[in-house]
Amino acid sequence: MTFTMLPVKGKNFIDRKEIVTEIINTLCDKQIFMGFALYGIRRVGKSSIFIEVQRRLDGNGFVVPVYVNAWDLTEETVPEFIRVLRNAIIDAYSPRLGLKYKAEELLQLPIKFFRDTMKSATISVTLGEDIEAILKWGEREGIDYNHLIDEVFNLAENLAKETDTRCALLIDEFPSLIELKLNGKKVGEPIIKKIRTIQERKKHVIISISGSIRKTLDLVAISSGSAFYKQLILREIKPLEPEYTKKLIKENLGGEATNDAYDRIHELSSGIPFYIQAIGKKLRELKKDIINIEDVDNAFDTFLGEEGTLIFRQQFKQLSPKERLIVKTMARNEVYSLSKIARAMKENPTNIGWFLNDLEDKGVLIKEGPGRYRFMDPIFKKWLHQKTS
Ligand SMILES: Nc1ncnc2c1ncn2[C@@H]1O[C@H](COP(=O)(O)OP(=O)(O)O)[C@@H](O)[C@H]1O
Ligand SMILES: [Mg+2]
Repeated sequence: MTFTMLPVKGKNFIDRKEIVTEIINTLCDKQIFMGFALYGIRRVGKSSIFIEVQRRLDGNGFVVPVYVNAWDLTEETVPEFIRVLRNAIIDAYSPRLGLKYKAEELLQLPIKFFRDTMKSATISVTLGEDIEAILKWGEREGIDYNHLIDEVFNLAENLAKETDTRCALLIDEFPSLIELKLNGKKVGEPIIKKIRTIQERKKHVIISISGSIRKTLDLVAISSGSAFYKQLILREIKPLEPEYTKKLIKENLGGEATNDAYDRIHELSSGIPFYIQAIGKKLRELKKDIINIEDVDNAFDTFLGEEGTLIFRQQFKQLSPKERLIVKTMARNEVYSLSKIARAMKENPTNIGWFLNDLEDKGVLIKEGPGRYRFMDPIFKKWLHQKTS
């Protein structure tokens, strides 16, 4: 095994037993009709949890997991979302139906082969026709995308009904669907509303979602009064505990490290698995028998200066000039309260307040109490500190 920046599953997946077991047990319980809403900062391991859940449920009798990530869409458009969701649903069900082809391959088949394939599958004629219709929607005239969304969810419902299963949709980074466009116009909000209403009516489809910013997740999915809210179990995904930081390193390092070194990795990474993986990768390249604390410090500094800059520069550039100034001041002077930030910037606190609010919406800061903030990602803070001092 080795360190990776991609989501992990199976043997590479460390810890998280409680949440994975809870999700699986809940989804598999025929008496319960609840999905999950996972939130936690970027790189903390949400996708990995969904993908591990999917791996563990694959081939399970009752639940068919379907995973899609809103960040994986090649374009933020409604047709692209429908295409990705449709393919994921068909691909998840194809083993159950004895279909030899994936959705994209089915699409390429000449119509005669396509129909023969459907005939030889264990599938009712109507459902086969539904699949054909939805695969070939591109050939329709004047496509009604609103209706098409219904069709995709109906397909999931009907596939589940016919195979006596439950379809568990896992929609990663769900709040990003708010960005979806149709013919250049933003239609994300009604689409999300629509998905919520659809979910209320389905008996065999359960949606679980994830999001990186609690506030945004609340806004799109959990806001009071929505029935969706009552169907979601909200769980925060937190960084790893020190023992699991150690385990992750130990299992991938291919060498030893001192106990101090493990502690330092945990401290520097804040237990966020992405940074543990990144530090581990640098340490592994050293090919040393025993890693010590200085090795860790050096590895982390190199990471911050190289990959850190690649990762964070982008995030930093998306901020307005004033917002940049604020986060730079906070990181350089280690000031976290509205009054102290304002004083350090020689500004009126009232002026700064609005910007702090926006920085919270953007998932850069978290409000800890009245007028008190901290960085959502402590490593971003360290990067800013390195860059500004
Ligand atoms: N349970 C885990 N065990 C080991 N590595 C993990 C675990 N969860 C996440 N990682 C690592 O952390 C990084 C971010 O994981 P990911 O699941 O993509 O996080 P998120 O979806 O929250 O941004 C990846 O490099 C992944 O390999
Ligand atoms: Mg993710």
